[in-house]
Amino acid sequence: MPKDYFTMDDFDLKDKTVLLRVDINSPINPSSGELLDDTRLRHHTKTISELSESRVVLLAHQSRPGKKDFTNLQKHAKRLSNRLGKKVSYIDDFFGSRAQNTIKKMQKGEVVLLENTRFYAEEHVLKNRDFSIQAGSHMVCHLSKLADYFINDAFAAAHRAQPSIIGFTEVLPCLSGRVMEKEISMLTRALKNTKRPSIAVLGGIKVYDTIEVMRNLLENDMVDKVLTTGLVANIFLLAREYNLGKPNIAFLEREMGSYDELTEQAKGLDSKFSGRIDIPSDLVLNDNGKRKAILLDDLPADLRIFDIGLDTAVEYRKQILAAKNLILNGPAGVFEIEEFAVGTTIIFNAIAESQSFGVIGGGETVAAARNLNLEGKIDHISTGGGACLNFLAGKGMPAIDALKHSKKLYEDGHYD
Ligand code: 3PG
Repeated sequence: MPKDYFTMDDFDLKDKTVLLRVDINSPINPSSGELLDDTRLRHHTKTISELSESRVVLLAHQSRPGKKDFTNLQKHAKRLSNRLGKKVSYIDDFFGSRAQNTIKKMQKGEVVLLENTRFYAEEHVLKNRDFSIQAGSHMVCHLSKLADYFINDAFAAAHRAQPSIIGFTEVLPCLSGRVMEKEISMLTRALKNTKRPSIAVLGGIKVYDTIEVMRNLLENDMVDKVLTTGLVANIFLLAREYNLGKPNIAFLEREMGSYDELTEQAKGLDSKFSGRIDIPSDLVLNDNGKRKAILLDDLPADLRIFDIGLDTAVEYRKQILAAKNLILNGPAGVFEIEEFAVGTTIIFNAIAESQSFGVIGGGETVAAARNLNLEGKIDHISTGGGACLNFLAGKGMPAIDALKHSKKLYEDGHYD
């Protein structure tokens, strides 16, 4: 079926100069500056390799101003070179004369990575402004003159309306890269899959965002059931008037300030979708680093909840294996500590084992899947954290809207 945005199949990119926006924002060791994980870089190598007959100018960000890992992209270029098996030259300039001269002299097959887009004020100041205002930015004016196409492969940043992501829309034909294309198609498939039962397993600590996802999935009948885990489950336990105990309440307050509104939202969803949201029947507390299993009747707890209980994990596994469509966000507990990774392990492995179509993504989900060596065993592991959650919540995705808009502009002869 024809797409409402262009992909790399729609144009002959041979001998062309392309600006390729990637998302290689990665966890970094603050003392050595080394990348701790290069999953996102690995994903983009497919897109870059396909452009071996083009001149490829990579645009990317790392972290945010003020954060310890807000660094230049030198290490990213090195790692990308290793992964690609060809040189990726790093230029410590974005759209100034050095960057421009480098781009002008590029040969077919060359790849350069420009400086962290977020080192430049326009990326922040012009955020969320109209396409035409962003098109007037220095970064867009200088770089667009030197390029034939803008390819957006940065799905993980597709919820951000910054000039390096949507600013080229009115000045260059914009196409999706392979990562973007796959993310849109797999996540859409999970949302639109008519095979039943369809189940969402929603956990992790990003409760505000996850409740939005839950609302979208239930209100639009994209899933029959939601199985809650992690902090999301704790909020639903509160909504059903369980007292979690002082240490858990203190943790919630520290993590999210007032959570009353969240509990109200959970109550609302619970009454509207009665019988369709499951909460854990047992829990695991952290007793000096050891697992202490309790039933809901044993609440309030005088220790922190670190995992769902075994009965819950086994029951959820049963439901997952019977499902025909699966969407998962967030680990079930504090999976980084082996002792408390049991719930996450059972659930993630059930998704991998299941014969149904399954997508997972958002926040720490990818790290949990990687810890469990599940890459390649689940239909789709999204590269997006916040972007994946936004997509699943049915919220606006500026980068995807921009791609669609560019296709319309192209068809109206705007770029001629
Ligand atoms: C991410 O890591 O989720 C993306 O790179 C977006 O980063 P941001 O939340 O800092 O915009």
